Amino acid sequence: MGNDIFSEVKDTGYREEAQEIISEEFFKVLRSRRSVRVFKDDPVKEEDMQKILDAALLAPNSSNLQPWEFYWVKNETKKKELVSACLSQPAAATAPELIVCIARTDTWRENAKQMLEIFNSAEGVPDAAKNYYEKLVPLAYSQGPFGLFGLIKRLAVFITGLKKVVPREPVSNAQMITWASKSTALACENIMLAARALGYDSCPMEGADSKRIKDLLHLGSGAHFVMVISIGKRSEKGIYGEQIRFDRKKFIKILE
Ligand SMILES: Cc1cc2nc3c(=O)[nH]c(=O)nc-3n(C[C@H](O)[C@H](O)[C@H](O)COP(=O)(O)O)c2cc1C
Repeated sequence: MGNDIFSEVKDTGYREEAQEIISEEFFKVLRSRRSVRVFKDDPVKEEDMQKILDAALLAPNSSNLQPWEFYWVKNETKKKELVSACLSQPAAATAPELIVCIARTDTWRENAKQMLEIFNSAEGVPDAAKNYYEKLVPLAYSQGPFGLFGLIKRLAVFITGLKKVVPREPVSNAQMITWASKSTALACENIMLAARALGYDSCPMEGADSKRIKDLLHLGSGAHFVMVISIGKRSEKGIYGEQIRFDRKKFIKILE
């Protein structure tokens, strides 16, 4: 696999200005997002839920293959089952709305095809970009029956990697789950920040029965439970304590 597609600087002719941002407002959203465990009964407006869901889709994602799905469970019967699958946590039981966030390891092929169709119907898309979705994407993300192609790739990557810089993952079905979950988790953060920006609160929950949730949504083996996110207005008792973060030196390493 040549590295030119990654290292080459291209000018496609496309221009998009960086918009001015009131940064303090953004940091207010960021700082005021807390995991809320008890919600008021106040409803979330339909249009706001739609904006929150659309925000998920704006997240950066691997190869733009959008390996995710978001299920807004409005149906009352299903919502009750979902609350139960979330171990009846108050963060779910008191929430006006619940979104199940799913990572997909089985949609990259059709999504690559769609990217290719979009590129083919547009003008001036470089061949390298089309080639990426036509040739490199199948090579990078196929793992083959029983993960056998992944095993071959693992060996090839190991040998090539002795002398050359190579992208090493994903070379197994387990790594595909990580691959899809990374992008989906970024979308989850978009959901929570969008909720806050619209005056609502949220709680991410992985304390849940993933099998029951998948059964509830009729999902198969290519769908992987990432988290449920509750959305609503915080009750005054909804935040259990001050936000605790450890010393930044523990996590932030600056290499000079
Ligand atoms: C992937 C993930 C799973 C989580 N699962 C739960 C959960 O099941 N129940 C819950 O009450 N909080 C859950 N949380 C919330 C965390 O406990 C919370 O983010 C953390 O304590 C920090 O608090 P803060 O979000 O208010 O900053 C989860 C958070 C993440 C990111």
